[in-house]
Amino acid sequence: MSKREQFNIESMETLLMRNDSHIRAIKDINDAHFTEIHYRKKAITITYGCQMNEHDSEKLSAMLTDMGYDATKKFEEADLIIFNTCCVRENAEFKVYGNLGHVKKLKETKKDLVLAVCGCMMQQPHIVAEIKKKYKYVDLVFGTHNLHNFPALLEETLKKDKKQQVVEIWDNEGDVIEGLAITRKKEIKAYVNIMYGCDNFCAYCIVPYTRGRERSRKPEDILEEVRMLAASGTKEIMLLGQNVNSYGGKMDTDMDFADLLAKVNEIEGIERIRFMTSHPKDLSQKLIETMAKSERVCEYLHLPVQAGSNAILKKMNRKYTQEQYLDIISRAKALMPNLGLSTDIILGFPGETEEDFQDTMHLVKTVGYDAAFTYLYSIRTGTPAATFENQVSDEVKHDRIKRLLEVLNPSITIRMQAMQDQVVEVLVEDYSKSSRDVLMGRTRSNLTVTFEAPGELIGKLVDIKITRPKNFSLHGEVVRVIR
Ligand code: SAH
Ligand code: SF4
Ligand code: F3S
Repeated sequence: MSKREQFNIESMETLLMRNDSHIRAIKDINDAHFTEIHYRKKAITITYGCQMNEHDSEKLSAMLTDMGYDATKKFEEADLIIFNTCCVRENAEFKVYGNLGHVKKLKETKKDLVLAVCGCMMQQPHIVAEIKKKYKYVDLVFGTHNLHNFPALLEETLKKDKKQQVVEIWDNEGDVIEGLAITRKKEIKAYVNIMYGCDNFCAYCIVPYTRGRERSRKPEDILEEVRMLAASGTKEIMLLGQNVNSYGGKMDTDMDFADLLAKVNEIEGIERIRFMTSHPKDLSQKLIETMAKSERVCEYLHLPVQAGSNAILKKMNRKYTQEQYLDIISRAKALMPNLGLSTDIILGFPGETEEDFQDTMHLVKTVGYDAAFTYLYSIRTGTPAATFENQVSDEVKHDRIKRLLEVLNPSITIRMQAMQDQVVEVLVEDYSKSSRDVLMGRTRSNLTVTFEAPGELIGKLVDIKITRPKNFSLHGEVVRVIR
């Protein structure tokens, strides 16, 4: 019987109880260790990739806290190291392999150090084969579909003979799992999954293979989670899915993403709601209208375009044209004049000609983005585009990204300069990276703002007057504390 079948016949309740008992068993081991030598074992989770992975790591960290581990930020201090990996581009994989090499040296000097790797890379059989063959010092390997099984797998790892690897990967996604008994730390901004997986199969993308088919969480489970977060002091919610606009599509309900957003908007205590990622092909007029009239939903859209050329968009299997994309933006701006916009762009997709690239340049000039994530196309084994003819040379890809940034970056700076002397509402998130005297937060349209103020303002909504626009962000001073 496959693990997947085993899971389906096991009720959710049994799973949660089993999970709890593994968490307690590990806590007993860690507590005994503490009693013996007055030292609490430490764990570190290193995350690569998107918000989905970041949120998975939060779930792992919460489980680790429940298991009696202290968190550390230093490899050298850790007794347990987890790499939560990404494989969306080759670079992401290189980083993981580089760090695995670093940990090998640590393992040589610290014999009890436990090393686990999980996440999207592990859903690819050729990578797991490589880990088994060349990285024998990795103790535990698991995937994206069995993250909830981490306590059982870790317990097995802690009790096993040091030379054996514990490896458990599920080929398929299981049911959506609710109610894992984990402690969420208090946070100003929180991610909330609304759906998992992706059914879009963009020709370049590995995500549908590593995250499985699209499935939505039930609205009542999502709303309950948001209510609990609101009660614990969370001010901003980011609703997460690979394509939030197709939320509910496969569920036995009439509720679509716009309806869900309207419901989340009713929850008292939450100041701001954001969501990502929106796929242009499914972004409805109803969603634009719901965004515009829901006061807690921010005027901000991350709307990946990927390319400006219709021929390339077609080959990418994106199912919209440049004209349709621009139409969405003008309809959204008509109802939300202060809309913040960001995007993802891939340079050098197979067959991309200079003319195709010029279409992307044209699009970028037309839209006026506040931020854009630009990527060189990276061949992903197993995706359709990996076998396409006319792969673009690295030299041409680099040249195009350089020319695109020469247009994009100054246009962002001009948008920042236009904010001079404006007063904007900012949710204060944290200290800035540079100094404890300077705080940082974001506008509703997702622009980053820094300002000098005391730490007590973290978590508050403030009005900030922009005094010094920078290239990609803003600097200002506090006008008043709203609440
Ligand atoms: N679900 C989201 C994002 C998924 S991955 C969406 O549909 O937009 C994040 C970004 O990585 C993508 O938007 C794309 O721009 C980029 N990306 C994905 N696969 C890539 C590849 N093979 N090479 C380069 N960039 C890629
Ligand atoms: Fe990848 Fe496309 Fe799915 Fe986004 S929508 S995760 S780019 S396949
Ligand atoms: Fe990477 Fe997986 Fe996210 S491949 S981008 S971590 S869904």
